[in-house]
Order: sequence, then C-alpha cells, then structure tokens
Amino acid sequence: MKILVVCLGNICRSPLGEGILKSKLPENFVVDSVGTISMHEGKKPDERSIEIAKNHGIDISKQRARPITKADLENFDHIYCMDLSVYEDVISMAKNEEQRKKISLFLEAAGNNGENNEVPDPYWGNLADFENVYQMIDEASSKIAQKLVN
Ligand code: 4NP
Repeated sequence: MKILVVCLGNICRSPLGEGILKSKLPENFVVDSVGTISMHEGKKPDERSIEIAKNHGIDISKQRARPITKADLENFDHIYCMDLSVYEDVISMAKNEEQRKKISLFLEAAGNNGENNEVPDPYWGNLADFENVYQMIDEASSKIAQKLVN
C-alpha cells in the first residue's frame, strides 16, 4: 500500500504527515510526501516542523521536498491533501475517475466531517501554530492508520 501526503510547499505540513503516518503504520506501507509547488524542491522541511516533530520523537530531517508529478497519481493508492486549495490542484491533475477516487482531504480520510476539514498552513505563524498542526495531523494519522490496517 502506497500513501502520498500533499501540501503546498512540502516543507511544513506534509513532511509531518509523512513522518507521523509512517510511525503509525507497518513497515510494508510506503509513505511519501510532495508539494503542489516546486519552489522548495530539494530542501529540508521547515526548521519549525523538524523541531516540533523531534519534540514528539519523530525525525523528519532526512526528508527532501519535491513537487507532485502525474506519475504520483498513478503510483500511489491513497493521496491525502492538507487543505481544499491543494485538493483542487491535485484533482485537476487526475486523468480519470480511478485517480480521482484516490484523492481526499487528510482530515476527511480520518473520518472528520463537517466544516473543519483543513489543516491550516502554519508557514507564516509561530511555533504554537506548528504544535497545533502537529496535534491535528497526529490525531488524524492514528485514525487513518487504523482504517488502512483493518
Ligand atoms: P506547507 O507550508 O504547504 O505546509 O509546506 C508552506 C510552505 C511554503 C509556502 C507556503 C506554505 N510558501 O509560500 O513558500
């Protein structure tokens, strides 16, 4: 099973999603993350994401950012998007219904329904915003991992 987590830059939210989901899933799961923009390609995650993850015992410092490609929509089984604008961008890349069905919001995949289905972009915020995002992603990842394993 191959899981892809997507945000805008692939330096703040989706690296956390990748690291946290990986920590909750069996070894035979592949978990990767990408961004919809290529601006940060090749860079490490944001220092604040690295620090927050480290505080929770997860090392995301070896990750490197890359932009999503059309091949990703073919190769991954589930594609989880951090917010609606990312979701719209990824959906617009899908070439058929089979690909569209793989794509969902990260929080919806965790079973959230209603209005708060987006993980907010913490890039312009402070460490507390990163911690808040970490908690949202951590809680959702537990639920997603449980669903994927069952
Ligand atoms: P991310 O956060 O999508 O969670 O990685 C952002 C990172 C960079 C930018 C925006 C959001 N940026 O505008 O460069």
